[in-house]
Amino acid sequence: MRHNLGVMAPSSEEHRWLGALADALGEAWTVDRVEAFADDELEVIAAAPPLRRALSEFPNLRLIQSLWAGVEVILRDPGLRTDIPLARMKDPQMETSMALSVLAHVLAFHLHHDQYRRRQNGSEWSQIYGVSPGERTVTILGLGAMGRAAAVALQDAGFGVAAMVRTPRLDDEIDVFGPDQLDERLADTDVLVNVLPVTEETRDLVDGALLSKLPPGSGFVNVARGVHVVDDDLLAALDSGRLRHAFLDVFRVEPLPEDHRFWTHPRVTITPHMAAPTFPSSGSVFVAEQLERLEQGQPLEHLVDHAAGY
Ligand code: GLV
Repeated sequence: MRHNLGVMAPSSEEHRWLGALADALGEAWTVDRVEAFADDELEVIAAAPPLRRALSEFPNLRLIQSLWAGVEVILRDPGLRTDIPLARMKDPQMETSMALSVLAHVLAFHLHHDQYRRRQNGSEWSQIYGVSPGERTVTILGLGAMGRAAAVALQDAGFGVAAMVRTPRLDDEIDVFGPDQLDERLADTDVLVNVLPVTEETRDLVDGALLSKLPPGSGFVNVARGVHVVDDDLLAALDSGRLRHAFLDVFRVEPLPEDHRFWTHPRVTITPHMAAPTFPSSGSVFVAEQLERLEQGQPLEHLVDHAAGY
């Protein structure tokens, strides 16, 4: 018997997912846009925000597979059933992209590219003698798959790395600490990197109080979500020059509105939510493996804990 998988993704990406999933899933699955099926025919929905239909409208789902690593939009879906497994995307390509993006931003900061850019605007030739990577500490907020990939890449490049995790645990690879130690760790941070999921605890976490605990002249990289940051507080820290530079990939409103001050701020580098895009070619291999586990009755991977919110 053939199974049915419906795709619900923005039109700009949907056709790529349809092709890649059809290739990866083979004969056993019919893959199409959700609208191509009667609601009760769908067993699996593969979804990327924004969602155009409420997931609760599909009565026979066995799995909701997010096509994104972040699932906060799906979790906000009214009537979302907690008895239907919801899984995050896990794609090694995304981890590689995240590691490279974070490394690129930290290197740009470390090598003073932000400062040289400003000097270039005034045709100013002046050299800055910096420190070695080992004398810099990069503090990462969040150590999920992508946070870890970034942490390892930074460590391999020679930077000192520490990561805040919700529940501290023994970690062979990275120096981890819990939220209760954040203040003291911030005081020893050269670049703060946000890779957290969105939860009630992490929303608005990067506010004036947190930023004031960073040493003067530090940098900030946000590759998680815009709602982690209080924009006006970040702008105030940048205006005063206390924070040397912010590398922002994600924003409270996306696309970032044309009149937002981030666009023209000399201490801000903007990328349009592209730090770690999902690759349909490799992401659909994970979906195929996940569906195989579903069919075999094996434990599914990267399931969301509804209570934790990620
Ligand atoms: C991208 O932001 C994702 O959550 O996958």
